[in-house]
Amino acid sequence: MDWIKMNYSRFLNVTSLGRKPSPIRVLTEIVLNSPKTLISMAGGMPNPDFFPIQDISLTLKDGSKLNIDTSLVTRAMQYSSSSGFPELINWVKDLQERVHKPPTLGITDENKKLDIIITNGSQDGICKTLEACVSAGDNVLIEVPTYAGTLAILNPLQPKILEIESDKDGIIPGSLLRYLSKWKPEDSKKPNCSIPRILYCVPNGGNPTGSQLTWERKKEIYKLCQDYDILIMEDDPYFYLQFSKPYVPSFLSMDEDGRVMRFDSFSKIISSGMRIGCLSGPRALVNKIIQHQQVSAVHSSGLSQVVLFSVLQEMGHDGFLQHCDKVADFYKRQRDACLAMANKHLSGLAEWFEPSGGMFLWLKFPQIKDTFKLISEKARAKEVLFVPGNAFMVDSSLPCQYLRSSFSLVSSEDMDKAFERLSALIKEELNQ
Ligand SMILES: Cc1ncc(COP(=O)(O)O)c(C=O)c1O
Repeated sequence: MDWIKMNYSRFLNVTSLGRKPSPIRVLTEIVLNSPKTLISMAGGMPNPDFFPIQDISLTLKDGSKLNIDTSLVTRAMQYSSSSGFPELINWVKDLQERVHKPPTLGITDENKKLDIIITNGSQDGICKTLEACVSAGDNVLIEVPTYAGTLAILNPLQPKILEIESDKDGIIPGSLLRYLSKWKPEDSKKPNCSIPRILYCVPNGGNPTGSQLTWERKKEIYKLCQDYDILIMEDDPYFYLQFSKPYVPSFLSMDEDGRVMRFDSFSKIISSGMRIGCLSGPRALVNKIIQHQQVSAVHSSGLSQVVLFSVLQEMGHDGFLQHCDKVADFYKRQRDACLAMANKHLSGLAEWFEPSGGMFLWLKFPQIKDTFKLISEKARAKEVLFVPGNAFMVDSSLPCQYLRSSFSLVSSEDMDKAFERLSALIKEELNQ
């Protein structure tokens, strides 16, 4: 299992290769990990005696009270480790072990061994990873349509985006192979070869499509990535919002090479405002993200981390997974209501497939050339809003027949009204 030697430096750009550990942060780590008998006049930590917050107690929605341990509160108020609170990292690591059983968790290879960094939401981890790996002109493989937040990171980095087609079962391996067959697997050993080095995808509850990458396709895709030595960015904030069990195994769960950077998010399950996500991947690459964190945010908010950790500790892994099931059940009911209303008002006008997870329905209007004007100008006048599909396309200036509808917040009655208004709008446009 440990036999494939990974050359991680080929995934990193000049900026990232040039990063060194921040000397001040290294000292902070030494202080944090030393016994109390150490006298440090080295660090620039402020004196916490003048920080006003003493205790934090929370009331949860089930009415229970949670007092956060005073020593955790004290630590939350001070600078802490750039990779995150060790207790939170351990909790997440145990969860990853239970849910994904990553083959790289307990291995001896110091470069590919699984490591975790707590990020400011998964967006932060995705942004730092793309900024560490992509240079202008690079070929980057992206599932399309794709998450607009990722396109917004990528566009200024000026890569050449290779658009991999997808359907309700996620990325189509044949589409990936069509691109890759322009090269030979051994080209990945040539330093200046244009062979793509990164594949980005959203495997569950696709944003915007609601698609779900199947296990069979994942195996094919992972094999292609092995052959061509490609790093997989598994952006999976809707993993726990899958509408049927068992969960489809992740890329992380099959990652015997250490070629998966997996992005998890607490935003859809616990809180989006806390801004906590986590990145799990091979140590050689995670270390580069930590070095970036050392000089950017320094670390994720200590307050958010201890509040999240205390809630997660109270729930335990079983409680957390039960909570995820409740949230997924809710979204599944919302999905069903959304599909019922789409059937009622949009049959004959739009096409769609049943989302397998997440919070989005992706609608195609074959008789409409471009939804952009329709939605951005006319829909607002009818007091209804959707996202025009071009927001999720690599070239957003091209006409697009799709729009994204979100079913996370709206009641069944409002979905009824919203699709009725949309239907009237489309019919007006078609002069029906
Ligand atoms: C596919 C995808 N990736 C990443 C994110 C960012 O989530 P977070 O709140 O964890 O930063 C989102 C949020 O909507 C998303 O849909």
